[in-house]
Amino acid sequence: MGDNMSDSDTLDHDSEREETESFDTEPHLNLYRHGRRYSLTRLEQHPWPIDETEKDRLEEQHVLLRELFEGRLYLAPIESPRNVLDIRTGTGCWAMECAERYPSSAVRGIDLVNMQDEWVPPNCEFWVDNLCQPGWHTQYTNIDFVHINQIQGDRQLLSLLLEGSNSCCAPGGWVEICDMTVQLDNPGEDSPFHKYIQEMTTAHARDGRQMDLPLHFGAELTRHGFINVTERSYDLPLCTEGRDKLKKRIIQNWTAGLEGYSFTLLEKHLGKNFTETVLMCASARRALQGKIEGYLQMSTGCVRTETGLAAFNDQ
Ligand SMILES: C[S@@+](CC[C@H](N)C(=O)[O-])C[C@H]1O[C@@H](n2cnc3c(N)ncnc32)[C@H](O)[C@@H]1O
Repeated sequence: MGDNMSDSDTLDHDSEREETESFDTEPHLNLYRHGRRYSLTRLEQHPWPIDETEKDRLEEQHVLLRELFEGRLYLAPIESPRNVLDIRTGTGCWAMECAERYPSSAVRGIDLVNMQDEWVPPNCEFWVDNLCQPGWHTQYTNIDFVHINQIQGDRQLLSLLLEGSNSCCAPGGWVEICDMTVQLDNPGEDSPFHKYIQEMTTAHARDGRQMDLPLHFGAELTRHGFINVTERSYDLPLCTEGRDKLKKRIIQNWTAGLEGYSFTLLEKHLGKNFTETVLMCASARRALQGKIEGYLQMSTGCVRTETGLAAFNDQ
């Protein structure tokens, strides 16, 4: 715990947590740092804020992405899912909306921390669970849709999720994964935005993460034995001037999260203090108002488990 803290940091116990069903018995501590709230207990797995500011941003992002997907909650061709898992559910907004749209379904949102609403549709529930543990899937059976949004570059976790998803799916169940990453036309340029991306790529790598992992979802599904993967990607230009309003709002929502996304990783792996990170993010955001060639790419891959998996257990 000491390594994660300085004199200005404060802690408290999370009193809301007991209201959610849980398989996780570890006491949960919050860490308050530079006006943001983190899960100290889970800082290693999730070095990003879990406060109201981040929840509001994620909820807005959910609404914007749904609009980008033309009102759909997922790409998989399922008309009416019955047993749904929303992996790394975060605010739980996707899970709640899925439950509302499909009242005869049972939707479970799973996350390391309890940051979901207390009031949920009767067919939706949230469980606190650490998906980094091998065998996480054994308590979930007969699932017909596993939805995973945002893996934050964690390739090892991705493997566990793909293996587990296959095991807990009923034959013919679907697995869908989506996330976004930045693609720069000239990654070696030295604009403040390029520098920000370069440093974050290094910090991610030192944290055992791969920032461009979403570009490899198709390959990862194939590497894990899935076949007939359907992939789709949406390119959102970083240079938003004159672009359509929705794409511009998605970029703005993404850039609003830069500081929260960066503080812990840049401090831990590149020794940057709070002020340096704030200035760096502000410069990156300003540079984006100029002409940065590239885009934020939203990648989705979905696959049906019955026919979609080849010799999974032989790996
Ligand atoms: C970016 S947020 C959630 C995004 C959410 N899917 C959405 O679309 O709004 C990522 C979430 O993953 C959760 N998480 C990180 N590591 C995890 C793990 N090992 N097991 C379960 N949840 C995890 C975090 O607590 C966080 O809520």
